This record gives sequence, C-alpha cells and structure tokens, in this order.
Amino acid sequence: MLLLGIESSCDETALCLLEMKDDSWRIVSEAISSQTEVHVEYGGVVPELAAREHLAHLPLLYEEVAAPHEEEIDALAVTVGPGLKGCLLTGALYAQGLSKGLDIPVYGVNHIEGHLLAPLLENPSLSFPYLALVVSGGHTEIHLVEGVGEYTLFSRTIDDAAGEAFDKSAHLLGFPYPGGPQLAALADSYTGEAGEPLPTVMKGKPGFSFSGLKTAIALRIQAAGEVSGEERQKLAAVIQDGIVQSLIAKLEKAMEATGCRTLTVTGGVAANRSLRERVAELSSDHFFPDMKHCMDNAAMIAFCAAKRLQVGQTLTQDLGVHPRWPVETSVGKKI
Ligand code: KG4
Ligand code: ZN
Repeated sequence: MLLLGIESSCDETALCLLEMKDDSWRIVSEAISSQTEVHVEYGGVVPELAAREHLAHLPLLYEEVAAPHEEEIDALAVTVGPGLKGCLLTGALYAQGLSKGLDIPVYGVNHIEGHLLAPLLENPSLSFPYLALVVSGGHTEIHLVEGVGEYTLFSRTIDDAAGEAFDKSAHLLGFPYPGGPQLAALADSYTGEAGEPLPTVMKGKPGFSFSGLKTAIALRIQAAGEVSGEERQKLAAVIQDGIVQSLIAKLEKAMEATGCRTLTVTGGVAANRSLRERVAELSSDHFFPDMKHCMDNAAMIAFCAAKRLQVGQTLTQDLGVHPRWPVETSVGKKI
C-alpha cells in the first residue's frame, strides 16, 4: 500500500510517500518546508500567515514528492488535529481535493498519535510497550504506548509547552525566535559550578506546568540584570536544567507508575543534548527517532494511518478539523 501523508498543523508543511508491505515499510519520498523565517519578526507563529504559507507550499511539495508516483498512490492521510485551525483546514481541504481528483480515500490522523508512533519508524528493535514523551513548542505529554491505538495518558502540560519555555526564556536572554536551540547551546558551553536551581513545579503531581517555571525564569533573569560571558552561560545552564529536570521528574514518575522502562522522545525539544543524556541515564532502553522525524513531519502521519489500517482500526474519513483533540479520545473508533 502506498500512502501519501500530509502534515500542516503548525508551521511546518510536510509531505511523505510511505510504502507499507506486510510488516515492513519504506519511505519512498518526503519533503518538509519550514516557515521559521516568516514568523521570526513576530517572535512566534502567526496563525494566519502560517495557513497561507501552507497553501503556497503544499502544491510545490506535491510536485516534488507525490506527482512522480501519482498513479500508484492508494490512500491519503492528513493531520486533522490538534493544531492551529486555519493550518489544519488548509491541509484537510487540500487532501480532500486530492482525494476527489485521484479518486482515492483520505483518512484523518491525530498529530500526537503520529508523534507517539514515530519512534517505530526507524527503530526496528523497539517493541510495545514503551513510554513516549512528546515535547515540542506546542505539546508536552507522556503516554504509555501499549500497541497501535492503545495509549494511556500519564502526563500533560496544564499550560505552556516545554519548547515554549525554552523559546520565551531565550527571548528574555536576547535570542531571536525560536531561541530554544541557541539557549541550549549557550547552556552547554558552561563548564563552571552549577547555579542555584529553579523551583520544582507541580511536585507530587503527574502533570507538567511551564507557566510558573517561566515566571521563575523571568524573575531570575531580571534579578541577574545585564549579564555577559560566564554569568550569561550560567544563567542559561540553570534555565535548561530547570526545564529538563521537570521533564525528567515526570518521566521517572511514569516509569515508577507503569513499571515500563522503555523510553522514547519525540518533538523538537528531543534535539536537546541535556535531555537526551538525562533520558539515557534513566534507562539504557531508550529510542529517539531521526531528528527529521522528531520534529513535525509527514512520515509519522502516513505511518500512523498505515499502522492503524494494518491492524484493522478505524480512521476518521470526516475531515472536520479538531484544533484541540486529546489523542486518548481519538483512538480505535470512528470520530
Ligand atoms: O516539534 P517542533 O519542531 O515544532 C513545533 O513545536 O512547532 O519543535 C520546535 C521546538 C521549539 O520550541 C524549539 O525551540 C525547540 O523545539 N527546540 C529545542 C532544541 N531544538 C529545538 N529546545 C531545546 N533545545 C534544543 N536543542
Ligand atoms: Zn508536533
């Protein structure tokens, strides 16, 4: 079966052609177009601009990824939530048009479910069950993944995402959006003694909260005043440690609660070196997808649909979009 995956839930437009044969799969072709430069001057993603960028890029990516194989495509899989409404609508309507034009079915996929299954894409030795930390600019959650369509929510942020905490802190340190990777690089360059740690947030509770941590970070940056050199590096290291520690603390809790020691991490923050090291310390049984499949991508969307079809699960064919769509409510049934 040849599936075309389409992803446009936030600020990445992506298409992927994935071939599924029995128990094996192969990425035939994929491409991602990122919009960071469009949003940089606004300090964050502007939903209207993002939707327009998707509209401009979807046909270009289609020409590159799908057009050469147009006759062989069996089905389409498109992200219908969660995400920015206008962005989801652009992708869903584009997919609907293709479905009519090519006379093939189109399935709606939950973006988070794509992230949850992405670690399987290039880790053949990974098997269920595993704990999946999804951590990006828009999402921060931990699920126990026991099979395709079998997800138990352990932890979710009650306010901001960890990537947002990285980006907002980086902004306060003077880095342009999205400054998370630059803050991380500055933190990693610090070799001195550890600074005073940030307060622990949501102690004893499974959920994440980054709003309070962001305030603590803002106060710390304010108190430090104009810092440069080693002091600035130290401040970045304290911020990074605070954010990473809050992720690690909940992963540890999830491991205790579930008894599961297999860990996976996806989402843009999975690029963070400190997070990777701390996850590796928690368990030797850990998996990270290739970076291009950690970030928003269409391979995980096509793969998710292919896996669900393979095990005989339903997928929605109603392409109404769901800006808020907890993955645990989307599973195993027709929406
Ligand atoms: O999954 P992703 O590419 O897309 C969205 O969430 O839209 O994640 C992007 C997020 C941004 O917040 C970015 O600052 C963060 O991932 N990020 C990092 C690092 N690389 C990317 N945060 C911390 N350390 C990094 N090395
Ligand atoms: Zn995502």
